[in-house]
Amino acid sequence: MSATDAAARREELVALYKEVSNCTKCPLHETRTKAVFGAGNADADLMFVGEAPGAEEDRQGLPFVGRAGQLLNELLVEIGLSREDVFICNVLKSRPPNNRDPLPTEIAACEPYLFEQVRLIEPRVVCTLGNFATKLLTGNPTGITRVRGTPQTHQLGGRTVFMLPLFHPAAALRTPAVKEQLRGDFATIPALLEKTLPEPLPSAAEIAVETASEDPEPPPADQLGFFGGTAG
Ligand code: URA
Repeated sequence: MSATDAAARREELVALYKEVSNCTKCPLHETRTKAVFGAGNADADLMFVGEAPGAEEDRQGLPFVGRAGQLLNELLVEIGLSREDVFICNVLKSRPPNNRDPLPTEIAACEPYLFEQVRLIEPRVVCTLGNFATKLLTGNPTGITRVRGTPQTHQLGGRTVFMLPLFHPAAALRTPAVKEQLRGDFATIPALLEKTLPEPLPSAAEIAVETASEDPEPPPADQLGFFGGTAG
């Protein structure tokens, strides 16, 4: 990827940041203090997606700046990374009142921003933190306890990425055994970042074009007439 491409993607990301800051697509804009776009390296290979801003995130306009964020920072340091190396954001960009679960309508309103962030940042690995991010981005309703720690391959933002479902750091703060599992799953991230991504699968339209161009037989003249040809 050339420097110019990276600069153009960054510019688009700044425009998206402005759009999200002024977003009124769902009622959460009425109760939020600040929208939380996400923060970090706009060209990161590694992206984390949490659930929604909490009270401190809402105040500062930054993701994962409370206790869960401190744990995230510690776990990053343990694998030789810092927040400046990665991009961190959430499924919802506005805080749900009293930290209640995101509603399907709120997720539907906000998800285009997340997909656009993935398209512009071009990560190789996306770690989903907790059930909401995992179910949305894998497109699978299986709970986090069953899928965490096993990488999946997905098409996201027009590219192939490895997705690694992880426990949410807030759950890890509540339960020491979950924290140890999260720590163990974090330890697999450096190898995943080095792993070669599979080639993207061709789309149905691409397969159709390829098949058509490989057809050795021209259609019979009487069939051309059906398509407005001038046969005969
Ligand atoms: N929990 C989240 O899911 N996101 C944050 O930004 C903070 C806490």
